[in-house]
Amino acid sequence: MAGRHAQARFDFSLRKKMTPRDIADMFNDFAEDYEQVYVTLDWRPFEVVGDFMAKLIPEDHRSKLKVLDVGAGTGLLGNKLKNDGFTHVDGLDPAENMLNVAKRRNIYQRYLCAFINKERNGAIETDYYDYIVASGAFNEGLIPCEAFQEMIRIVKPGGRITFTVPTRYINSSDNLRDQLLPLIDQLAQEGVWEVTSVALEDGELSSTDGPGTLYSLRVFVSEKKF
Ligand SMILES: C[S@@+](CC[C@H](N)C(=O)[O-])C[C@H]1O[C@@H](n2cnc3c(N)ncnc32)[C@H](O)[C@@H]1O
Repeated sequence: MAGRHAQARFDFSLRKKMTPRDIADMFNDFAEDYEQVYVTLDWRPFEVVGDFMAKLIPEDHRSKLKVLDVGAGTGLLGNKLKNDGFTHVDGLDPAENMLNVAKRRNIYQRYLCAFINKERNGAIETDYYDYIVASGAFNEGLIPCEAFQEMIRIVKPGGRITFTVPTRYINSSDNLRDQLLPLIDQLAQEGVWEVTSVALEDGELSSTDGPGTLYSLRVFVSEKKF
């Protein structure tokens, strides 16, 4: 396997020592082969999130909504949303080469090459998006829990943050372990969001991820610092 940090593509234990920039470089060097490799894993998180969105939102309303796909990668989820009638979908990802694959297919309206984390992204207005979605982007070394602060800022009150996470990463990832579930509960108790969760069986996300959960957090506030 050629490319920077190539072993860490599938050996997630190696990611623990990598910086966010290393992770982005790993995906940059993997971009052209990414989909070909992930197809062999029966990769489906983008379909799970896309199907949830399609069930939630009537067809005639979809083109009126602004959606941000965080950890957009090569645009698999954006493409599914676009095919389902969501015409305004932007993609955010720190790996430019991943976004370039999506750009060639004209998937997103706007391409934001950035990390989502605790920092405020000056290119995105407060309360700009109706929905934030993420597929396969809450795994070891990817989007950290602190990023919910920024997601809450950029999604409108009444909007939702919807993502999947495999159970094994909730238990093992340095970014999520002991943090993700308490944070989801705490902010629900404080009235920041209302939680919908859907259990996903082994095989629903991919052939290797095991069981997981789809979370859809309906956000009621404009900002929340934590
Ligand atoms: C496994 S890929 C998933 C891509 C796509 N959503 C899909 O379903 O195929 C994870 C993506 O998350 C991106 N990523 C990593 N850290 C991130 C962060 N802090 N903010 C946003 N995206 C991040 C990576 O660059 C990579 O493109």
